[in-house]
Amino acid sequence: MGYRQFSFLIFVCFCQLSFSSSVPHSCLKDQSTTLLKFKETLTLDPSLVTCSSYSYTSSWNTSRDCCLWDGVICDEMTGCVIELNLSCSGLVGKIDSNSSLFQLSRLQRLDFSSNNFSNSHILPEFGRFSRLTLLDLSDSYFSGHIPSDISHLSQLQSLHLSPSFETILRLTAHDLKLLLQNLTKLRELDLTSINISSTIPPNFSSHLTTLRMGNTGLYGIIPDSIFHLPNLETLVLQNNNQLSGYFRRPNGTSVHLSSFM
Ligand SMILES: *[C@@H]1O[C@H](CO)[C@@H](O)[C@H](O)[C@H]1NC(C)=O
Ligand SMILES: *[C@@H]1O[C@H](CO)[C@@H](O)[C@H](O)[C@H]1NC(C)=O
Ligand SMILES: *[C@@H]1O[C@H](CO)[C@@H](O)[C@H](O)[C@H]1NC(C)=O
Ligand SMILES: *[C@@H]1O[C@H](CO)[C@@H](O)[C@H](O)[C@H]1NC(C)=O
Ligand SMILES: *[C@@H]1O[C@H](CO)[C@@H](O)[C@H](O)[C@H]1NC(C)=O
Ligand SMILES: *[C@@H]1O[C@H](CO)[C@@H](O)[C@H](O)[C@H]1NC(C)=O
Ligand SMILES: *[C@@H]1O[C@H](CO)[C@@H](O)[C@H](O)[C@H]1NC(C)=O
Ligand SMILES: *[C@@H]1O[C@H](CO)[C@@H](O)[C@H](O)[C@H]1NC(C)=O
Repeated sequence: MGYRQFSFLIFVCFCQLSFSSSVPHSCLKDQSTTLLKFKETLTLDPSLVTCSSYSYTSSWNTSRDCCLWDGVICDEMTGCVIELNLSCSGLVGKIDSNSSLFQLSRLQRLDFSSNNFSNSHILPEFGRFSRLTLLDLSDSYFSGHIPSDISHLSQLQSLHLSPSFETILRLTAHDLKLLLQNLTKLRELDLTSINISSTIPPNFSSHLTTLRMGNTGLYGIIPDSIFHLPNLETLVLQNNNQLSGYFRRPNGTSVHLSSFM
């Protein structure tokens, strides 16, 4: 085994262990290599950078500690990358199942919103980021079926998957049910404009504050349980013209809700 392979193994092991040392770590070499490999698979389209007019990955190079790169946050104790925010960075490219992205197993927050990963599917591999509390893949030209593996991400508090205009993302009725049942810590869920075509299952995380499921093709009766969610502040169900329900007032009378246009 060559020295390079050996040191790679050591670095990988470091990221898998928890540290008791109180000395802050800087970037681990395998983390910076992994990030740079991921950067290499993508190109930049300056015309896409409408929201921030700046691409985070342009600051990524080996002359600086990777924990100081824009959009990258490391765990101070371990030096592992725990947050990647490449929102609105003009990134163009395809994310394959062999992408080095999926080696960043310590990620807790991943924001890829508003880029162009056109032709990419939301791969089952996203379900391996078991520590994720936030996943935002919205408006990034992901298409196809949302895999049931997303419902393995049981720590998620915030999930945004709303597709780009003219892009079709589908979620089966079965997978919607799993998602809502299994993600018991969810606070924010945005499934706007995903093609779901299902009734709304009755089980929701009691932590939900925001639920957006407009323009999804949901049909049937809105379960009463939604109106009893103790923390709900925002509920958007517009543009689902097959959906109706009854909202019960405190005095026992009810309001008929229909035609969500
Ligand atoms: C690396 O990135 C830093 C920060 O953006 C920049 O100042 C520096 O010029 C870059 N170095 C190289 C070799 O590209
Ligand atoms: C990512 O960065 C953008 C721009 O700085 C910011 O608006 C957004 O809230 C960040 N995302 C997360 C999950 O913190
Ligand atoms: C990853 O897979 C794609 C096809 O799915 C292939 O074109 C590419 O070369 C692979 N990359 C690596 C680093 O193996
Ligand atoms: C996204 O990237 C694809 C492939 O490079 C390109 O064909 C398409 O026009 C891009 N979409 C936008 C909105 O820039
Ligand atoms: C639900 O979450 C648990 C972890 O809390 C996981 O083990 C299980 O596989 C998940 N079930 C589904 C159907 O995703
Ligand atoms: C789902 O909700 C129904 C009705 O509110 C309840 O009877 C059932 O126990 C719930 N199931 C789970 C898995 O929480
Ligand atoms: C969902 O997809 C089906 C089948 O392709 C289609 O008939 C339906 O109009 C779509 N619904 C929405 C809300 O996009
Ligand atoms: C119940 O409350 C609504 C508005 O809060 C009111 O318009 C209605 O008259 C009340 N009905 C009864 C029976 O008190």
